[in-house]
Amino acid sequence: MVKDKCILAYSGGLDTSVCIKYLQLLHNLDVITVTVDCGQNDDFKEIENRSKEIGAVQHYYVDAKEEFVNEYISHCIKANGLYENQYPLGTALARPLIAKKVVEISNKENAKTIAHGSTGKGNDQVRFDITIKSLNPNLRIIAPIRDMNLTRDIEIQFAKEHNIPISTEVKKYSIDMNIWGRSIEGGDLENPFVEPPEDCFKFIKFNNSDVGYLEIEYEKGLPITADGKRMDLVDLINYINFKAGSYGVGIVDHIEDRIIGIKSREVYECPAAIVLIQAHQDLEKMVLTSHELRFKHIVDQQWSWMTYSGLWQDPLLNDLDKFIDATQNRVTGKVKMRMQNGSMRIVGRESKFSLYKNDLATYSSDSIFDQQLGKGFVELWGLQSITANSIAINLNKKENKGDEQ
Ligand code: ARG
Repeated sequence: MVKDKCILAYSGGLDTSVCIKYLQLLHNLDVITVTVDCGQNDDFKEIENRSKEIGAVQHYYVDAKEEFVNEYISHCIKANGLYENQYPLGTALARPLIAKKVVEISNKENAKTIAHGSTGKGNDQVRFDITIKSLNPNLRIIAPIRDMNLTRDIEIQFAKEHNIPISTEVKKYSIDMNIWGRSIEGGDLENPFVEPPEDCFKFIKFNNSDVGYLEIEYEKGLPITADGKRMDLVDLINYINFKAGSYGVGIVDHIEDRIIGIKSREVYECPAAIVLIQAHQDLEKMVLTSHELRFKHIVDQQWSWMTYSGLWQDPLLNDLDKFIDATQNRVTGKVKMRMQNGSMRIVGRESKFSLYKNDLATYSSDSIFDQQLGKGFVELWGLQSITANSIAINLNKKENKGDEQ
């Protein structure tokens, strides 16, 4: 009898490897695995072999690096996308793209079921399920780890029993990686007081105390050159990951509020994301009006929250992107950074759209600003505050008099 097909989003890691077997054994499905390359630099041939070895009937490799960078990360840069002001959303951005690719293959293969390896405790289940259902509400979704309430130790046990290969890194931490960063969870890091050991990082170097400079040029909100060299966005991000990482820049270690309410300790290694967002933000401060900046900050935060919480397909996100795009026309110019021992500081910026005017700002006699304008402005600016305070002072006086009588 012909079995039904199931398309599994397959990273090659522990969770998704265990899923192949469970889908075969428990659901009696033919499993087709799909590995989406978002710049995780894995050995994709080995992943394909592993998938076949565990029992998948077919495997797809999808190179989505360009799409990831141009359709997802580029929006994140323009939106200064940082969840809770810290996390540049690497994992959160890749999930809707992986879901999209898996849905495309389910259409091609005429499969009615999609599976993913998310647990029931994390954010990824939300991102996968909502994107899949938004793209095709008729698909059935199976998430074996969540459905069966599996824990990591049970999975490792199951993997051993069924000869599923697991790497030593997997045993120590749960890692998700793509070109926008590495998310490192689990193991010793579950104690939020324990400092992340150096061995959980790939790009970050701890033995370099040299000073390094990095110059990035932006055009309409997107980086186009690094250190004077024009590169496409994929190469530019890779270049900065290595360079900033070699000066120790790019670690985020914070307590994060997951969508489902759990607080978790998250460690990220994301040099390019941190550098590109910070430099972009700095350039915006030079070219946008204070009114634009104040409002865009609210939009940026909403954008980050929606991206984090799996609402990539919601019409509002698209509307926010349109607003953000409209603000980026003047975000063109250069930003210079100095890096040393894990710290990064912006030390210079320039733009032909700069609203910074030296002849207004200067304290020297070249100033064209008429200081006498200041007096009237201050009077009007403080009018209500001063009035409110004088009412309070007068009422106080009256009350004090009353007390004396
Ligand atoms: N907390 C981050 C997020 O929700 C990282 C999740 C890491 N995922 C993983 N499968 N290890 O985006």
